[in-house]
Amino acid sequence: MNSTIKVAKRTLLNNRRLNYTLPTNTKLYPAQWNWDSAFIALGYSNFNLDYSFKEIETLISGQWDDGMIPHILFHIKDLNYTPNYKAWNCGRKISSSGITQPPILASILRIIIERQKFSKKEIKKHQTLILKIKKYLEWFIRYRDPKKTGLISILHPWESGYDNSPLWDKSMSKIKIDSKLSYKRKDNKIVKKSQRPLKIDYDRYVTIKNHLRELNYDPKKLYFKSKFNVVDVGFNSLFLKALKDVNFLLKFIGKSSIFLKRYILLNESKLIKLFNSRKMKFKNKDLKNDTSIEIPSITNFFMLFADLNNNLINRELIKGLKKYYKNEKYFFPSISSKHKSFEEKRYWRGPVWVNCNWIIYQGLKNKDKKFAEIIRKKTINLVEKEKFREYYSCKSGLGMGAKNFSWTAALYLDFKLNRS
Ligand code: DGY
Repeated sequence: MNSTIKVAKRTLLNNRRLNYTLPTNTKLYPAQWNWDSAFIALGYSNFNLDYSFKEIETLISGQWDDGMIPHILFHIKDLNYTPNYKAWNCGRKISSSGITQPPILASILRIIIERQKFSKKEIKKHQTLILKIKKYLEWFIRYRDPKKTGLISILHPWESGYDNSPLWDKSMSKIKIDSKLSYKRKDNKIVKKSQRPLKIDYDRYVTIKNHLRELNYDPKKLYFKSKFNVVDVGFNSLFLKALKDVNFLLKFIGKSSIFLKRYILLNESKLIKLFNSRKMKFKNKDLKNDTSIEIPSITNFFMLFADLNNNLINRELIKGLKKYYKNEKYFFPSISSKHKSFEEKRYWRGPVWVNCNWIIYQGLKNKDKKFAEIIRKKTINLVEKEKFREYYSCKSGLGMGAKNFSWTAALYLDFKLNRS
């Protein structure tokens, strides 16, 4: 067996705790993260299906009564993370954060189930999981689009997963920092400061979080009162794909949902309007400040993953993507290196992330096989050169951030062991 495959498996197993897996073996992220866990489950499905389902079940066990699956589950009362479980002060049976993350879990569960070629009877065994994910997606529609606009809002940059992306700069600049703020960061003692978000970012993250806490994380209030309320193209694309995938899985357990089906049509038509193919530009919306955001971010191209029922737009998106990374030795940069906000080494402001490559690859597989294969090979080569880092420079390929990063190992396995 290829030795990098062996090390990838070992990385996941070493990061595994009781039925869930940490994002890395450093002290950087001492808990279970929502979208990390989904990618990790996919990685396990390539060699240990039991661990794969355990990972998903543990994540879902943190679901709130209203349907939300939090972005972090603090299974262990570890204080070495900011903000820790006390600072969030929420969660039900399991302490958690009070916000969510992209619901990629739905799409990953579908991939796992399809690849295993499960019979209807075998799929039925997982019906509780499918129904809980359905409830999670309904929660988004109910509480993140209460005005039924057809687009889902995120209420904290951490919800996007791409925390300090320049996508949020303008909206974040409007946040008045709480004068009584008191918190101590640990992350920039573990990873180089130059690769992590700035102090001003954290001041604002914690200010927003404290405000959500003051509102008791009441989902009925948050959409209207949060200091941050943004409609993001990337997030909505992942959400739309999640809806389609859950809808697909529901059929196998003899269920269907008109509510979800209607929202699929509405969400797709509204999402398409956020892309201007003539100008090749995407428009995210800051609902709090009633402005639009136009930043060349790789996450805009998650629209390819949403499998839009529109070949013309899909072709335009592919054209745009080819331009987006042109002349880059390693790709995809999280922000176009031609944009003024690009920073080669700082977290989500430029570095290459393997999960973004995987999402784009999945979106391209049925639209441009040749291009998809280039992405697969380039990502494999980058990871084999630098090992399982959190992110990489698009200029030099240098690995940065955490080492032994779980989703990089998981998705490397997935790239390596599944050719389309
Ligand atoms: C972090 O701590 O950097 C995480 O991305 C927040 O979810």
